[in-house]
Amino acid sequence: MDARTGFIVLCLIGFSCAETVKYIDCGSVSGKVVTVEITPCPSQPCKLKRGDSYTVNVTFSSTVPSQESTAVVHGVIAGVPIPFAIPIVDGCKSGIECPIQNGQTYHYVATLPVKDEYPALKLVVEWELRDDNSKDLFCIKFPVELV
Ligand SMILES: *[C@@H]1O[C@H](CO)[C@@H](O)[C@H](O)[C@H]1NC(C)=O
Repeated sequence: MDARTGFIVLCLIGFSCAETVKYIDCGSVSGKVVTVEITPCPSQPCKLKRGDSYTVNVTFSSTVPSQESTAVVHGVIAGVPIPFAIPIVDGCKSGIECPIQNGQTYHYVATLPVKDEYPALKLVVEWELRDDNSKDLFCIKFPVELV
């Protein structure tokens, strides 16, 4: 059994299988992205099964202090950004200990529910976390496929 097969088997029997995903930085001005993990996502682009929930874990370092942080998520379909509802928009309730300090590294961990009623298509997810001044602590884009 090779490493990849082993990894998938562990995922199937319920181990956490966080996968570092490739992303594009879409303008992180108040911070710097270190890694982006989506769980589960055994192959890229991530195939998101409608009706399931996924965990998005963005490790970033902040270059500003900020009392608050707010997530804004869009699904970009054929170039058009469509607001995407996530259950908790408050970054300070998503794994980040606030106030955010300049120079600290944080793990932003959020749930991405993929509703049954979404159509099966390929899209780009654009995920921003805004600071007190509405500037992006991070802005990442990654392709997904709803299946
Ligand atoms: C988020 O990712 C970082 C970097 O890989 C890891 O250290 C941390 O444990 C992860 N947090 C969660 C809740 O998965």
